[in-house]
Amino acid sequence: MTDFEKFLSPTGRQLTESAIRRMGTVVSRGTDLVSFAPGYPDATLFPWDELSEISASLLDGHDGNALQYGPTRGYAPLLESLIGVLEARGIHATPDRVIITSGSQQGIDLIARVLVSPGDVVMVELPTFTGGIAAFKNAQARLVGVRLDDDGVDLDDLDVVWQREHRAGHTIKLLYLIPNFQNPTGRLLALERRRRVIEWAGRRDVLIVEDDPYGSLYFEDVATAAATRPLAADDEEGRVLYLSTVSKTLAPGFRVGWMVAPPVLIERFDTAKQSTDLTSGVLDQRVVYEAIRRGVIDRLAPALRARYRHKRDVMERAIRAHAGDRLRWSSPKGGFFIWAELPEGRTDLDVLEQALAHGVVFVIGSAFFVDGSGHETIRLSFSAPTSERIEEGVRRLAAVLQPALTSS
Ligand SMILES: Cc1ncc(COP(=O)(O)O)c(C=O)c1O
Repeated sequence: MTDFEKFLSPTGRQLTESAIRRMGTVVSRGTDLVSFAPGYPDATLFPWDELSEISASLLDGHDGNALQYGPTRGYAPLLESLIGVLEARGIHATPDRVIITSGSQQGIDLIARVLVSPGDVVMVELPTFTGGIAAFKNAQARLVGVRLDDDGVDLDDLDVVWQREHRAGHTIKLLYLIPNFQNPTGRLLALERRRRVIEWAGRRDVLIVEDDPYGSLYFEDVATAAATRPLAADDEEGRVLYLSTVSKTLAPGFRVGWMVAPPVLIERFDTAKQSTDLTSGVLDQRVVYEAIRRGVIDRLAPALRARYRHKRDVMERAIRAHAGDRLRWSSPKGGFFIWAELPEGRTDLDVLEQALAHGVVFVIGSAFFVDGSGHETIRLSFSAPTSERIEEGVRRLAAVLQPALTSS
């Protein structure tokens, strides 16, 4: 057998696979497994009819550009229409401040590759999105965690951590935040903290990476559009690099996201992107452009909010009914996730092993922590399964959490 290890570069050797992707493999192998693992949208909500009509008209052969190479920066009419999308979120952008990315994941990766040198500090939430961890790790960042409370990132801890890293002589470049219905905790960064985070970043000369896939998925019983106002909307210095995507509001198969940043950085991201994919899928961008132009995404949003809110309720009711004394969680005000604390004495890995045997899977909490902690937590995604499967999955999980098993 050829030893392929010896061909690996230092980067290739230390590449980090996402724990969620790994869980995805487990799930696809299982037969009757209920999956609370990946943050997939509910496919029955994809606007199939409108998308097939748009696609058919793009593919009727009248416009060769629909399947041609396109500019790396993105399909110009889509870039223009995103200005309106951003404006609706309070962000005043111009086309020279926007780049289309192949999902917001590519945006994180471009930021990591263009801005992070080996050993640079990237501050992240404890816990944070595994895709962010992977991208920054691959750029050999020094990932440093900042504590969260119920209202999002803890501003005191933020500065304590910054000072500690600064005193140790490290260069602190970025703070990576998911202010809206955070992945994995579902938490919403309190409004008054948003301005203070921007002020803090100015004072400490740090750039903020604001990752916002879930902002429009607020549950109208407890949150509003105003509560999800992006940091980028109040950023006067261009310190916030803002990422968003259609993955959770239209469909992730399109791989269409975007980043807003100062023009000098957009130029660099554009050049770095050229060597990755030349251009994000042109047909994808054309479909997404039409979906925005025809108002498909805006019309869909209330249905998404209602459906995901309903699923959150179903999952919470089921947990209360079957495992209310064993799991602790605070109710998310939007997004896809319930973040739960396990009973004393149980760890995410031991519960996962038993859960798989009982036909239910989730993501272990520790996968989201950069400091090796979090073993008493799990992330349950309620977005994709049907209500019946959510109930069934929670029943299975509750069986695993029975005190008899706890003490064994
Ligand atoms: C916080 C966060 N950022 C980025 C992504 C990736 O999104 P995209 O599909 O646009 O690459 C996800 C997907 O789960 C996410 O939860």
